[in-house]
Order: sequence, then structure tokens, then C-alpha cells
Amino acid sequence: MGDLMDIIKGRRSIRKYEDREIPQESLDQILESVRWAPSWANTQCWEVIIVKDPDIKERLQATLIKNPATKAMVQAPVVLVICGKMKVSGYYKGQVETELGDWFMFDLGIVSQNICLTATNLGLGTVIVGLFDHNKVKVILGVPDDYEVVTMIPMGYPAKEPEAPKRREMSEFIHLNRF
Ligand SMILES: Cc1cc2nc3c(=O)[nH]c(=O)nc-3n(C[C@H](O)[C@H](O)[C@H](O)COP(=O)(O)O)c2cc1C
Repeated sequence: MGDLMDIIKGRRSIRKYEDREIPQESLDQILESVRWAPSWANTQCWEVIIVKDPDIKERLQATLIKNPATKAMVQAPVVLVICGKMKVSGYYKGQVETELGDWFMFDLGIVSQNICLTATNLGLGTVIVGLFDHNKVKVILGVPDDYEVVTMIPMGYPAKEPEAPKRREMSEFIHLNRF
């Protein structure tokens, strides 16, 4: 296993892939990293749909509008679709626990990052896709009403590694003791 900081810094959003399948063992490891994600009171509200069918990938692609990941949706050998059950994360006995409401986006964000970092560690490229018609995807994939589709993550062996986009300096966002 590589150095964690190298993996964190080396992960890029990859939108072009080689014409090469992902080995089942790699996919299994990526899905195992989902299992071990932390979540609100260990509620694990996630569901993952593995899309390999070219026709379904095309239908999913059509839900993206002006998105730089549009080609990636069909070029990638695998697209993981990350869904979450509503009113679980951040809830206790059906009552919302904090003023921030449903924490499913937070938990699924961690899941998405686990997927991307594990994929990077295996030499695979990913891009988290959040800009699409979420309701259309729900219909295409038969996702039940009490779940939401949050991200789609195309993945494959990188054909092109872009430069890292600039990051804010630590001094721009670190606060000592008060904001
Ligand atoms: C929640 C979320 C949604 C995103 N949605 C999209 C998207 O719809 N299309 C896309 O091409 N990239 C998307 N990205 C990727 C970002 O553009 C990318 O992470 C950012 O520019 C930094 O680049 P890097 O990932 O290579 O470090 C998304 C990233 C996140 C975390």
C-alpha cells in the first residue's frame, strides 16, 4: 500500500480512460472500502449500483448537461452510482437530531472519497460526478422513493492525467481558536 499522503495528493479527477477492464479483485477492494466508511451512528445509509451495461451507461450519460465528465460516463468500463436512504443519517427514532437535518450527503461524501482513494491506490482513475438530473437517474435505475442518488463515479485505467488544480494555501483557511 502506498503512502497515504501520496494517494491523497495524487488522486485526480480522471475523465479519459484506457480501453481496459477493471479486474474483479480491484472492484472488490473498492467496494470493501465503502463498507469501512464511517457514518452517523454507524447507520451506513449507502447503496451502490455497479453499472457496466453500455446501454444503461448511455442513458445515465444523457442526464448530464454541459458536464466535463460527459464522455467519461460511457468510456469508463464501470460507473458506480452512490445512493443513500433518507431519514436515517442524523435521525434517531425518526426524529431529526441536529439543525443540519439529514446527514446522508455527508456520509455519502465520505463513501465517495473512500472509493476514489482506494481506486487511486490500485492505479485506477475516477471522477466524482454530482451535476446531473438526479430524478432521471432514479427512474433509469429503479431507485426506490425513499432513497436519493447522490453521485455517479465513472472509473477506469487513466488515459490522461491532468495537472492538479490549484489549492488554497493553509493560511487562507486555518483559524486559531476563533474563526
Ligand atoms: C461533490 C462533487 C461533485 C463533482 N461533480 C463533478 C461533475 O459533475 N463533473 C465533473 O467533471 N467533475 C466533478 N467533480 C470533480 C471536481 O471538479 C474536482 O474534484 C475538482 O476540480 C478538483 O480536481 P481534482 O479532483 O483533480 O483534485 C465533482 C467533485 C465533487 C467533490
